Amino acid sequence: MTVQISPSILSADFTDLAREVARIAPAADWVHVDVMDAHFVPNLTIGLPVVERLAQVSELPLDCHLMIADPDRWAPSYAEAGARSVTFHAEAVSAPVRLARELRARGARAGMALNPATPIEPYADLLPELDMLLLMTVEPGFGGQKFLDLVLPKLRRTRELVSRSGAQVWLQVDGGVAADTVERVVEAGADVLVAGSAVYGAEDPAEAVRGLRQLAAQ
Ligand code: DX5
Ligand code: ZN
Repeated sequence: MTVQISPSILSADFTDLAREVARIAPAADWVHVDVMDAHFVPNLTIGLPVVERLAQVSELPLDCHLMIADPDRWAPSYAEAGARSVTFHAEAVSAPVRLARELRARGARAGMALNPATPIEPYADLLPELDMLLLMTVEPGFGGQKFLDLVLPKLRRTRELVSRSGAQVWLQVDGGVAADTVERVVEAGADVLVAGSAVYGAEDPAEAVRGLRQLAAQ
């Protein structure tokens, strides 16, 4: 599968999100929306009302990454708000199978995220219930952190598990993805790349997306 790019608006101008999404729309596949609640992670960003509006104005499908406590309760509303993909954290969810089914029933792709220290093996049997696995390559909470190479062996193992299962699960990596790390993650099996500071820290975000895509294709 060709690698997809999902720029994170965490590093964009929060007072002008419609314009910030429009800037990447010609080049990106998705827009990654980081929802943080100051409980599951020590940071607070945006929530449902902003996601609802973004879904109405964005040309790109919304890829919502929920870094929130109790996703069992809140995640289905993000699917109803129009997010095309909704990712909850394995460390926060109580009933992942039920939640993934609820998301799919609402027309969204169901994603599950793993923090750097969370192993994939306990979740191997869940793969057919999921459309995407997000492997965090930084501790969640903030943009602009250094990529954690220690996640690469897990990414390789996850790629193998997915291939063996035959399930159609995309592997997303999130955190510290930039020109100097793209090749490593693609080689290890990633097929959706999230990049925040590497895209919105650039003078021309669309050009930055094209640059990452080119590196990913090599
Ligand atoms: C971190 C977020 C990421 C973040 C990535 O908790 O989940 O999506 O925006 O930012 P960079 O690409 O700057 O590491
Ligand atoms: Zn994210």
